[in-house]
Amino acid sequence: MKNFINLKDIPAGDLRKILSDAKKRKSKRNNLNTLEVDNDKPLKGKLLVQMYEKQSSRTRLSFYIAIKQLGADSITVKANELHLGRGGESLADTAKILSSYGDGFLLRTDSDEKIENFSKNLTIPIINLLSPSSHPCQVLSDVFTVEEIMRKPISKLNICWIGDCNNVLNSLIAASVKFKFNLNIGCPKNYNPPKFILDWVKKSKRKINIFNNARNAALNAHVVFSDKVVSLNDKGNKYKKIRDFKKFKVTSSLMKVTKPRSIFLHCLPRGDEVSEDVFLGKHSRVWQQALNRVHVQKSILLYSFGRLR
Ligand code: CP
Ligand code: NVA
Repeated sequence: MKNFINLKDIPAGDLRKILSDAKKRKSKRNNLNTLEVDNDKPLKGKLLVQMYEKQSSRTRLSFYIAIKQLGADSITVKANELHLGRGGESLADTAKILSSYGDGFLLRTDSDEKIENFSKNLTIPIINLLSPSSHPCQVLSDVFTVEEIMRKPISKLNICWIGDCNNVLNSLIAASVKFKFNLNIGCPKNYNPPKFILDWVKKSKRKINIFNNARNAALNAHVVFSDKVVSLNDKGNKYKKIRDFKKFKVTSSLMKVTKPRSIFLHCLPRGDEVSEDVFLGKHSRVWQQALNRVHVQKSILLYSFGRLR
């Protein structure tokens, strides 16, 4: 059994195996309906418990489908309906119960510490569905999408991030170390990635490039990523933050400095950080990106259960 909490803690070889498995499984789903189970039914009879302490559309639905396609079942519990927290039951007791009834626990939460505590108390795998510091399922799936569209290993591509240094970017930085790709970040001066992340990159003998100018960051990019300026866990002054990011919007004029067949990706939901014409235009692959979550998350689940082929 293996947890899937942060990309930085997972060996690069395992991440690559997840992507290869996803590619094989996806290629076999062409003529199947959404809820038809994969031939080998690898997780038949298993129950995955999902819990969301914050909103989710894509993660919730894509994991539901992923779980069903593997032959397992899923129940989504609401944090405010459990005894944990409001009813005063300890996290350790809740973890014990989850481990007795369920085979895996999938959690989206506002607290990295809570994921950590659950991981210590559960005897079943835990998967991080987004925390303040990380969105590992999203980013691993995005690496898959990039390689699928560009038909090249991501290590041969220039990847650019325009926007906030948030959970998604943290996972993208971790991916840049694990998959060894070139990462340019474009963000305002006071919003650079935190020192402990830059130190980790350095310790891992990799480098990321930070530009406080969107154009310089996007120059010659094969892929441009963006995300909302104000994330779910943001507690600060959102109006000020949006103002500070005004010059870090992905527009068609910014896309002009990228490579000729560059693509635009965004995990969604979106805000003002990308113009409508880019989001819906020729560079955008955001719908394919969202759909690939199903395929990669199936292989993440199989990794957690030690069932990767
Ligand atoms: N991209 C993503 O995780 O979307 P949701 O918040 O809708 O799950
Ligand atoms: N950075 C965003 C991602 C949403 C999927 C957030 O945390 O709200």
